Amino acid sequence: MKDAADAILRPEQAAYLASLPRKTDPLLEKMEAYAASHRHPISDPEVADLLFVTARAAGAKRVVEVGTNIGYGAIVLARAVGPDGHVLTIEYKAETCEVARGFIAEAGLSDRIDVRHGDAIEVLGALDGEVDLAYVDCVKEDYPRYLDLLLPRLSARGVLLADNVLWKGLVAADAVPDAERERVTALRAFNAAIVSRPELRGVVLPIGDGVGYAVRA
Ligand SMILES: C[S@@+](CC[C@H](N)C(=O)[O-])C[C@H]1O[C@@H](n2cnc3c(N)ncnc32)[C@H](O)[C@@H]1O
Repeated sequence: MKDAADAILRPEQAAYLASLPRKTDPLLEKMEAYAASHRHPISDPEVADLLFVTARAAGAKRVVEVGTNIGYGAIVLARAVGPDGHVLTIEYKAETCEVARGFIAEAGLSDRIDVRHGDAIEVLGALDGEVDLAYVDCVKEDYPRYLDLLLPRLSARGVLLADNVLWKGLVAADAVPDAERERVTALRAFNAAIVSRPELRGVVLPIGDGVGYAVRA
């Protein structure tokens, strides 16, 4: 978390933010330890807090998460939407879906979260109904495509968040390694879209690895 923030913030600011006390949450802490030991790329804790605050502030009830991993973001979002809310979360690795379902059962949220095994673009293309909160946290090269698929579904007061939009600071770098060029190009296009498309009003927040945050204009 702090290493990613160091690429964006002044080091003393990153150190201060990392030193702030956190609420105790045994299940999320267990998932963070599991993710670290199994090398799973879960959301940063402060991004999870932003998801919770946003979902609550927006009164979101219908949530779509693109990229489940072990269910960390989905659990946070499902807690925020309350018992009459619902989270659809998409993951293309079958074994990772099973790990997520296990943690979701442990959280007592199996009735509120649908872990959909499949490719994100295919599942998003088949979505129907409105979405109050969309959380994009999947294939970086596909962020512009996810935006195009999600925008028509976003409710009037809907919010779209996207993680890793500063990609370790590389989106702001002059020299981008070849291996990262496609990712960085897509993330730059995504960031430009959320701040400049006429139908959106958005910002890029220097939280975690960078979070795109947008609503309908
Ligand atoms: C960064 S992780 C998601 C973290 C999660 N949102 C959280 O809050 O902890 C991205 C996940 O997307 C999954 N993924 C990668 N390509 C995918 C695709 N084409 N369709 C669906 N899921 C995919 C990966 O297996 C990985 O588990």
